[in-house]
Amino acid sequence: MAVGKNSIYERFLAPVIRMFIDEKGLRRFYESVDWQKESDRFRNPNLEYPSYYSSQNFHGIEGGYLTPGAAVSYDPITQYVLPPNEAWIRQSLVDAISGQPRRILDLGCGTGSTTLMLKKAFPEAEVIGLDLSPYMLVMSEYKARNAEANIQFLHGSAEATGFPDASFDLVTASLLFHETPPEISRTILRESFRLLRAGGEVLILDGNQKTIRQVDWLSEIFEEPYIRAYAADSVDAWMGSAGFEAVQTQDVWAIHQLTKGVKPIAVKNSRRTAIADIADNEDLAGLGIPAYGTLA
Ligand SMILES: C[S@@+](CC[C@H](N)C(=O)[O-])C[C@H]1O[C@@H](n2cnc3c(N)ncnc32)[C@H](O)[C@@H]1O
Repeated sequence: MAVGKNSIYERFLAPVIRMFIDEKGLRRFYESVDWQKESDRFRNPNLEYPSYYSSQNFHGIEGGYLTPGAAVSYDPITQYVLPPNEAWIRQSLVDAISGQPRRILDLGCGTGSTTLMLKKAFPEAEVIGLDLSPYMLVMSEYKARNAEANIQFLHGSAEATGFPDASFDLVTASLLFHETPPEISRTILRESFRLLRAGGEVLILDGNQKTIRQVDWLSEIFEEPYIRAYAADSVDAWMGSAGFEAVQTQDVWAIHQLTKGVKPIAVKNSRRTAIADIADNEDLAGLGIPAYGTLA
């Protein structure tokens, strides 16, 4: 794995993390996979990587997420950077879901850790994970296969997914927004709004913006190019301006936050109203109630 040798990450954090991870085991796994062949199975030939993504060395890894090394090292490292417990943090998103979504989209799914928990919580739901990195998708599929979980993983961009309007009951993103410039996060929320049926929910789990503002130096150590801009802004406000209602942010163990919003039943000034979305849904025609939650 090519890591920027002079980065703060490499000089200070990586040596500490290396004491805890099984580097030999990771290397064996890394060498056991034909990365070109496996990643080609996911690669969408029409996808153009946005420059904010392809030009950055996230976490000090040269080439960022567009490398097999990032995909292999992501889980072993992430468990140590989500205190007090990675599973609890992710579970907070799953626990906040209202009702029984039938179609779920996990944006920036990475190695699929949250995606798998969503499928486990809603085994009957169709769950799709979408990510810009075909290498991360190789890992997510490997994990889903081991867990015997039927999840579809797709190579794509969260800001323009290509899915039809009103085709999901739930859209989630965990640990994505601190890695996208704020204007991209806003675009992703507008896309999420378009994708949701009336009454559908969006859930965004990420670093706690208030807390990160107070520990600015951490941004340097973790080599997160957009985290300062993320922390200086407000996911709540982005959700409101994307059209979501009942927007609420709750702290998750002080270091993280979970923001939830609902696509309203009637959308004012919309070219196409959310009421029309309900009418399009044969199961729900005329009921005037959220597309999921009470019926699934
Ligand atoms: C920090 S990881 C989070 C992964 C996973 N959601 C998790 O909770 O562990 C961020 C992921 O978002 C992906 N990503 C970044 N920008 C994206 C975008 N615009 N569209 C889709 N995926 C994106 C990256 O490739 C990476 O896998």
